[in-house]
Amino acid sequence: MIKAGVVGWPIHHSRSPLIHGYWLEQHGIAGSYEKLAIAPEEFAGFVRSLHENEYAGCNVTIPHKEAAFSLADNVSEEARAVGAANLLWLQDGRVMASNTDTFGFVESLDKVSPGWRDVSGHRLVLGAGGAARAIIYGLLQSGPSPVVLTNRTRQRAQEIAQSLAADGERIRVIDWDERQSAIAGAGLVVNTTSLGMSGNPALEIELSYAPPDCVVADIVYSPLETSLLSQARNRELRAVDGLWMLLYQAVPSFEAWFGVRPEVTRELRQMVEDDLIAERD
Ligand code: ATR
Repeated sequence: MIKAGVVGWPIHHSRSPLIHGYWLEQHGIAGSYEKLAIAPEEFAGFVRSLHENEYAGCNVTIPHKEAAFSLADNVSEEARAVGAANLLWLQDGRVMASNTDTFGFVESLDKVSPGWRDVSGHRLVLGAGGAARAIIYGLLQSGPSPVVLTNRTRQRAQEIAQSLAADGERIRVIDWDERQSAIAGAGLVVNTTSLGMSGNPALEIELSYAPPDCVVADIVYSPLETSLLSQARNRELRAVDGLWMLLYQAVPSFEAWFGVRPEVTRELRQMVEDDLIAERD
């Protein structure tokens, strides 16, 4: 029996057990994936006793991602760039850490909107939290296009620009109030803020000046179609919702613990969609 799980505080909202449970069943693997509510003061002890408690590893979510990065014996390039880890696994008794958000985002665009890398124009990133850092790192790896970054708190955007593109060449920070003007000429627009999420205000931005081949992505998945994405669809721009990223970021984790690279199937996507709708109703 191979054991894994997702560690957070709180943890009840996580969809990860649904996703990994689906793959375990699909592949006939004798394994388990549970939600693990671990308080911050207990997290280091939990990581140290992964082996003793017979875990192959775990996913890590808020508020433990930075601690997971610091506690690991070995960290991937992605985790180092982001300064946070969401995946831990054991290898020869060592705790390995990675950050699968970068893969999840880039893979979701590659799969849902193939050809996005070749769309000319800058990549406009809205928001500068942890998710933005992982996404920007992925964008810088995915091609030569410059990133234009804007955040309500400009300082956070500047910190990301300094740490991910120290030469200042590839990331240009602009004021939050200037976001509208950066739509013109954008090859990709990504919302990484919590604006548009159920219970939050919508992201105020007009896509009318977006180039016709511009791809619009949102990391929000509840609701599945944010007002940003419905605007994109109405303008016949390609739109990629946040559920795709959530599904694809789970792939490397499953492979690290269970040794099989799983597929994001239509059936899996539908199952998680149904679960989101059931919660909303
Ligand atoms: P995560 O690490 O998961 O990305 P976060 O660090 O809380 O989450 O980041 C949330 C993002 O949404 C930030 O970019 C935040 O902007 P600030 O850095 O200025 O806080 C952005 N955000 C949240 N509410 C917002 C609002 N009402 N208007 C504009 N941006 C908002």
